[in-house]
Amino acid sequence: MAVAHLTIDPAFAVAPVDRRLFGSFVEHMGRCVYTGIFEPGHPSADADGLRGDVLELVRELGVSTVRYPGGNFVSGYRWEDGVGPRGDRPQRLDLAWRAIETNAFGLNEFMRWASLAGVEPMMAVNLGTRGVEAAAELVEYCNLAEGTAAADLRRKHGVAQPHDVRLWCLGNEMDGPWQIGNLTALEYGRLAARAGHAMRRVDPGIELVACGSSNSDMPTFAAWEATVLEQAYDQVDYISLHTYYDPEKHDEASFRASAVDLDGFIDNVVATADHVRAKLRRSKRIKLSLDEWNVWYQSRFTEPEDRGIEELPALIEDDYDGTDAVVVGNLLISMLRHADRLTVGCQAQLVNVIAPIRTEAGGRAWRQTIFHPFAHTARLARGTVLRAAVTAPSMDAGRYGQAPAVDAVATHDEETGALTVFVVNRSTEPVPLAADLRAFPRHRVRQHLTLSAEQPELTELAPQGEAGEILLPPVSWHALCLTPEEPQ
Ligand code: AHR
Repeated sequence: MAVAHLTIDPAFAVAPVDRRLFGSFVEHMGRCVYTGIFEPGHPSADADGLRGDVLELVRELGVSTVRYPGGNFVSGYRWEDGVGPRGDRPQRLDLAWRAIETNAFGLNEFMRWASLAGVEPMMAVNLGTRGVEAAAELVEYCNLAEGTAAADLRRKHGVAQPHDVRLWCLGNEMDGPWQIGNLTALEYGRLAARAGHAMRRVDPGIELVACGSSNSDMPTFAAWEATVLEQAYDQVDYISLHTYYDPEKHDEASFRASAVDLDGFIDNVVATADHVRAKLRRSKRIKLSLDEWNVWYQSRFTEPEDRGIEELPALIEDDYDGTDAVVVGNLLISMLRHADRLTVGCQAQLVNVIAPIRTEAGGRAWRQTIFHPFAHTARLARGTVLRAAVTAPSMDAGRYGQAPAVDAVATHDEETGALTVFVVNRSTEPVPLAADLRAFPRHRVRQHLTLSAEQPELTELAPQGEAGEILLPPVSWHALCLTPEEPQ
């Protein structure tokens, strides 16, 4: 059996771990909000209808930042519909998903939920059917203390303190032909620059994310990013990336190698942003926000045009298996490896809709397999990301050619000394892994968490002391937690 070798050294530092990498996404889509996080009358719900069982799981998941309210939904949304007395809120047709939106849940309910969940809100503005004015007024409603119409409206709605939202998305997937109000790159770049300019006049401290391509297979990928950034470079801080991996779209080997694709996607967006930086002769570097990513059985999805209008459609409630969880673990490894430029990540979505957490209306809430690699990466990745030097047997990676069977990254918390190594074996063969932790001679493995295609439930193996050599079962994910031995 060919052995994989792993070398970890503090000299291979990438960047500090940014907590925002462990974000998620709540969209008014399917049952993410209604009967997901919000269900008045549910046995665990509080007086505002926020489900306590879901909140508990969200805290356990370790989510840092949550993007809201969409997604495609935001491109036809009027934020004013979701604030103020419930009885006055209009019931509308949501054009993105062809669903009835009651507006029983809106901005202030989301902010209260976010504070109970202990997460940072990341808001998206509608640049599909609306524009500069509505976007600036939304910032004013959220972030100004008092003395202007929108700030005073919030106070009238019973929220005295500003929500102080730092992170804002300038629309959603505006290149997509499915997007309500979709635009060309030039049109969108100008609009993003104008909206960003006005929003920053309201609150100069906010951080702005421009829409990148909806995915890297879009025919305009990279040209879109270049044009948008040429128009909006000075106004924005981030460019977004969205990517979903469908286990059934290509062959199975390609799916297991999804992180190879994500690595290339991130590198290409960094290169494009830096090309624009050079062209415009700027010193600022644009950061990356992977604000939608996940495994999604997208080929099973029925387009909105082919469905009737419903109030609570159960949309894309995918069930995940062990391989899906290993792929999610590997995508998180790829994200950490790029922590020098990628500082925001939002797994899409949080509850029910392609989600780590599922619920039954009126019933239980539970964890899906993909919950575990996310929760434990979010919990254990602390301090500084260290690139792991890996030499591994090569595997067939389908449409990506050949790829190393083993992939890994580490984090080192200088304060506590904790070193965590995240490893995947993405091949269908077992692979022995020999670890060289030369710069950490006193570190011993205290905890070994794992799951695999064969064993999708999270398992804790007996810690084996020295990292030495371990056998990685086929299609498996591992978190090895090491701490230094006390000196004798
Ligand atoms: O997350 C589901 C949908 O996927 C989002 O609404 C959209 O932005 C993306 O295409």
